[in-house]
Amino acid sequence: MNLIQSLIRPEILAQNPYYVADAKDMVKLDAMENPYPLPDQLKVELGEHLSKVALNRYPVPDYRNLKKKICREFGVPDGFNVLLGNGSDELISMLSVACAKPGAKVIAPIPTFVMYAVSAQLAGLEFVGVPLQRDFSLDMPALLTAIREHRPALLYLANPNNPTGSWYSEGDLVKLIKAMQDTGLVVVDEAYQPFAPGSMMARLPEFGNLIVMRTVSKLGWAGLRLGYMSASGALLAEIEKVRPPYNINVLTAATAEFLLDHMPVFEQQASKIRTQRKIMCEALGQLNDVQVFPSEANFVLIRVPNSEQIFNKLLERKILVKNVGKMHSLLSDCLRITVSTQEENQLFLSALSAALV
Ligand SMILES: Cc1ncc(COP(=O)(O)O)c(C=O)c1O
Repeated sequence: MNLIQSLIRPEILAQNPYYVADAKDMVKLDAMENPYPLPDQLKVELGEHLSKVALNRYPVPDYRNLKKKICREFGVPDGFNVLLGNGSDELISMLSVACAKPGAKVIAPIPTFVMYAVSAQLAGLEFVGVPLQRDFSLDMPALLTAIREHRPALLYLANPNNPTGSWYSEGDLVKLIKAMQDTGLVVVDEAYQPFAPGSMMARLPEFGNLIVMRTVSKLGWAGLRLGYMSASGALLAEIEKVRPPYNINVLTAATAEFLLDHMPVFEQQASKIRTQRKIMCEALGQLNDVQVFPSEANFVLIRVPNSEQIFNKLLERKILVKNVGKMHSLLSDCLRITVSTQEENQLFLSALSAALV
């Protein structure tokens, strides 16, 4: 055993690094990004705004202004505040570290966003996945049994879920939050909220063990790396102790503060994406051999006869989607496609039609 292998924890040696495909010269439909750039006038104004940022100074440590604007624009209930992360990935990591007592467990319905399991394992928590049903709805009896059996410290519910796009009813979420009331925290991850029919944000005051987590990534600001979560003040105060100081850099904070004053631009972009999602699902539904799953997110999951082969044929035509076929048995032969502009969606649909023959 060499020095590195003797030093690093075995569960980390066993992990694969997070894989990001090379997207150079590709129509990039693999990462649920918003395809629309900033309008030119906003780019100019943002440039001016950023020119005034003091790069020689650390950020204001409590991010008071940024938090105030996030609460104002994203419907955080009165009396509640947010905790900020360098992407919601960092928030997930903070929660894992905060809850990593010996023997503590994390539960999530699977397949879901992989970072819940990765982050739990990195922090030394046990991750327990409870399979969704074949139609990607929650298996409520199995989840309630798993909660009783494992008494998890954390339950993650991505709503809409990635990579399935499925939407869980508020009634089911409330049942799970109540089942977890004396056991642990329920994190409702609303990363795709701009495209979704609802939110648990307004219900925060009812449940002391509820955390609502969001990101600005899918709204069109993925490059900023900014996530936020809200929960009771007492809970946020404890997680705050895990947050690395200055985790949001001055350029991200200043950019977000500027963009938060122009929300109608991004709401309009999200609305265009929702319209395109409908058009894309209808077009996909017309194709023989393609099963389309309902989506409330900015991507669509489909099942094709051979996802590996179709993925490679799309690549030959410079279209990059995500082949999730090997992620979980429920996802066999599935591809996940980001909903993009009308032009890019059309390129994808033509390439897929050609690939299917
Ligand atoms: C459900 C879910 N939560 C969180 C994230 C991560 O978001 P961020 O870009 O803020 O790290 C993703 C990214 O795809 C996601 O699908």
